[in-house]
Amino acid sequence: MNILILQASPRAKGSTAWMAQQYQDAAVAAGHDVTLVNVAHKKIAGCLACEYCHGKGNGACIQQDDMQELYPLMAQADVLVLAAPIYYFTLCAQIQLPIQRMYCVNKPAQVKKMALLASSYSPGVYDGAIAEYRDICNYWSVEDTGIVTAMNDEQKTDAIQHKIIDLVNKL
Ligand SMILES: Cc1cc2nc3c(=O)[nH]c(=O)nc-3n(C[C@H](O)[C@H](O)[C@H](O)COP(=O)(O)O)c2cc1C
Repeated sequence: MNILILQASPRAKGSTAWMAQQYQDAAVAAGHDVTLVNVAHKKIAGCLACEYCHGKGNGACIQQDDMQELYPLMAQADVLVLAAPIYYFTLCAQIQLPIQRMYCVNKPAQVKKMALLASSYSPGVYDGAIAEYRDICNYWSVEDTGIVTAMNDEQKTDAIQHKIIDLVNKL
């Protein structure tokens, strides 16, 4: 399958980047085609709600920023993996931007499965992120293949690596 991982932490050596890398390594080993994009290092603005896309734009966004590189990747993905740290009790802004910019096409054209990888400092801070992720899975009518979270002491451990490999094995 064609897998797109959106990694949203600005920290290249942080926990979320590590989790995204584990997912990529396991998926490549299983024979999938994987593209990993660090969206935190892209210039992606918020949706302008200008409705150009639903009129003259015919599905195209008027904003010429790095989201234009992501649209074709989103359109070709069978599996979409969101990898994000928790900022202020929810998914970080860097992952919200590319999701909300999908407004122009409503949903990624052929995504059938999704997964969530999330990191935090504290325990018990994932409810908002998980609720949003599940709402998006339902709204886009895609299968939730699972969620792996890693707080402080759990980060970059074999236990988390094994949970991520289990997620990939569910594809
Ligand atoms: C702006 C900001 C907000 C944060 N908010 C929370 C939070 O609400 N709860 C929490 O447990 N950790 C919070 N953290 C800590 C990060 O979620 C945590 O360090 C995470 O492991 C970072 O992932 P990374 O290593 O992939 O960047 C916050 C960090 C930042 C920079």
